[in-house]
Amino acid sequence: MLRVMVIGGGAREHTLVWKLRQSKKVAEIYVAPGNAGTAVMAENLDINSSDLDGLSSAAKEKRIDLIVVGPEAPLAAGIVDIFNDMGIRTFGPSKEATLIESSKVFAKELMHKYSIPCARDKVFTSFDFASDYVKKQSTPMVIKADGLAAGKGVIIAQSTDEALKALSDIMEARIFGDAGSKVLVEECLVGQETSFIAFTDGKTVVPMVPARDYKRVYDDDLGPNTGGMGVYSPPGFFNSELADTLTKNILEPTVRAMEQEGKPYKGVLYAGLMLTSDGPKVLEFNARFGDPETQVQLPLLQSDLVDVMMAVIDGTLDNMEIEWSDESCVGVVMASGGYPGSYSVGYPITGLDRVDSDLLIFHAGTEVNGANICTAGGRVLTVTATGETVKEARQKVYNSLPLIQFQGCHYRKDIAAEEM
Ligand code: AMP
Ligand code: GLY
Repeated sequence: MLRVMVIGGGAREHTLVWKLRQSKKVAEIYVAPGNAGTAVMAENLDINSSDLDGLSSAAKEKRIDLIVVGPEAPLAAGIVDIFNDMGIRTFGPSKEATLIESSKVFAKELMHKYSIPCARDKVFTSFDFASDYVKKQSTPMVIKADGLAAGKGVIIAQSTDEALKALSDIMEARIFGDAGSKVLVEECLVGQETSFIAFTDGKTVVPMVPARDYKRVYDDDLGPNTGGMGVYSPPGFFNSELADTLTKNILEPTVRAMEQEGKPYKGVLYAGLMLTSDGPKVLEFNARFGDPETQVQLPLLQSDLVDVMMAVIDGTLDNMEIEWSDESCVGVVMASGGYPGSYSVGYPITGLDRVDSDLLIFHAGTEVNGANICTAGGRVLTVTATGETVKEARQKVYNSLPLIQFQGCHYRKDIAAEEM
């Protein structure tokens, strides 16, 4: 029986804990730092997910056998290497392999070298050279900070002035710190945006069920970008032929490329893609599970997640059949008033016990405060349901949402609406 530690505190991590709880191979689960949702199915540890020293002491003290890393920051800081050195099996890529997410310049150079389709780009370290180049490009164009910028380092500039301002903010004002010491100027791709997420042990690639997320805060994709306001699986436009193409032409070549570069990649590989008239092209890679994608993918996973993770870590994924339900799943994010801008927290959440028992409520920014569960972040809950069809799952979620309330709560009304 395994003692497991999950790192992170969002709805993605609550979903991971919920799925790991179903495994007969798991004894104890600890979550650092977790939330009010994980507190009822695991033991929360009051350790920040970027506190590598605190996490390694806790792993030793709690005699952890398996560590699962949710967010990108600890991966980029090398948490997997630290735990591997301690002899603890850890699910996630090494620091060097995480470069595929933590350095957009590394990812682009890799894609160019191994002919993995992506947008044309140019890299700059000098603001003057970058400005001269930008003035000669047609608009719109895309400006990207090289490093991690909490999802904010990409600017789609509609005019030359906007592009110059983005360059100045990133390279001169350093609004993202050192993440802006290099900048990419990219051609703007047009098409249907999608993501494609897979497990890989460094050789074999096994895709998860496809999922579509919604990044804008308001209905009809209006308003600013967020961490994700909703998600569903499977999207109607996604068929098995597309999945095969993306596996063979994008994910497998990427995993082979990482091996050839001496940075073998193990864990979850997440490709953000644009399906252009010229074929699918990569926008970015993430080195981790998606959030909110995980909240609809894991409820459809029929295999034991511990078996999958062990096969990834041990390099035996080719011997394993990962099984998925052919049902559908829809998740809608309930967010704090003002999110993704500034918002207040600490409001009691009511009605969590009034929703149907087959609904899955994954917590993100929540905490226990006396007898109440209170809001503690921007994204508060992902309310999720499965069903025979997307329509059925969607109906269950939207019927339940009015029952759950907290001051300022808002959510999108059009998640999965295109499948109706
Ligand atoms: P990324 O963090 O690289 O995924 O970028 C965030 C968002 O910016 C993506 O989800 C796309 O909507 C958009 N984006 C990034 N790169 C491009 C590009 N080359 N062309 C068009 N849109 C892009
Ligand atoms: N859903 C987008 C992400 O996980 O990065």
